[in-house]
Amino acid sequence: MAGIRWPPEDSELSQTRAPSTSDLISDDDRSIAADSWSIKSEYGSTLDDEQRHADASDALSTGTFRAASDYSSDKEDPDAEVEPSMLGLQSYWDATYADELANFHEHGHSGEIWFGTEVMDIVASWTKKLCIDISEGRLRGPDDGAKHESVEQVGKYLSSWSVLDIGTGNGLLLQELAKQGFSNLTGTDYSEGAIDLARRLADRDGFSNINFLVDDVLETKLERQFQLVMDKGALDAIGLHPDGPLKRIMYWDSVSRLVAPGGILVITSCNSTKDELVQEVDNFNQRRIGVSQDPETPKDQKEASREPPAFRYLSHVQSYPTFMFGGSEGSRVSTVAFLRS
Ligand SMILES: C[S@@+](CC[C@H](N)C(=O)[O-])C[C@H]1O[C@@H](n2cnc3c(N)ncnc32)[C@H](O)[C@@H]1O
Repeated sequence: MAGIRWPPEDSELSQTRAPSTSDLISDDDRSIAADSWSIKSEYGSTLDDEQRHADASDALSTGTFRAASDYSSDKEDPDAEVEPSMLGLQSYWDATYADELANFHEHGHSGEIWFGTEVMDIVASWTKKLCIDISEGRLRGPDDGAKHESVEQVGKYLSSWSVLDIGTGNGLLLQELAKQGFSNLTGTDYSEGAIDLARRLADRDGFSNINFLVDDVLETKLERQFQLVMDKGALDAIGLHPDGPLKRIMYWDSVSRLVAPGGILVITSCNSTKDELVQEVDNFNQRRIGVSQDPETPKDQKEASREPPAFRYLSHVQSYPTFMFGGSEGSRVSTVAFLRS
């Protein structure tokens, strides 16, 4: 990744207005974004081409989207840390959603669908099948065997799943889940602009029953748990903060409290492969065991971590478009489900 111009160190504290994306981005970065656009556009978007290109150029100007080859399973350095970028800062998202709100008011645009409509549709329908399988006591994954549930039965199953979408952005994934039959839906985002946009779009599109709340997942104020927690691109953004590795640890601590026992977490990422996400969960589970065995750990923390491993791998989407590179097949987006113990 080249040529990122960072805002001044204390910019998040000293700003009297959220910077527009154009304040933070150099011309060089824009041309990187234009190159990166071809990767993202393969998954489509809701905007017309010219508008889409302009918006995506801004959003992608940090060049965080990897070249196709980086997603193959034989990456040269699979453990290389993702470089920080502006997409890890709240000021970036506040500015982005200020632009998207203006676009919504002027042109009625819904804003960016991260990873595109095709991925969003796959995530929603795959998650629905997974939840039905779990409701019926099948845990092997959603792609096995023919299903014969009646519409009423499916509706009954899905209405029992409380759903939280972390880093919901414009909330369109929740609208898609509502179309699939889920009815108990909540979306959170730390950017007020995102929540404002999500509410307006939900009202416009006839989904006023979806709850939207401003909440930072790393310091969540939510005091309830959810059977299904979705994350499409939020962990990716969190990992791009300058303190990304630490923030990712905080993320897992927080998310493990938000997913109800027996519930599931479905993460969609363009920065981590399925294997990397599974490894990250293993590390989190190991850390909890380590904490429970450390004599220095306070008693209450020890008791909390004496529980069984928080998450275990359940299933992953296998139907994304794949490509061949260096003799291996890979996909640019991964969606993985974990079961909460
Ligand atoms: C790549 S966008 C994805 C938006 C949406 N999920 C989608 O798929 O279109 C990442 C989102 O995560 C939100 N986000 C980043 N860090 C967050 C945090 N700590 N707490 C809550 N939301 C966060 C951003 O504001 C942004 O809306």
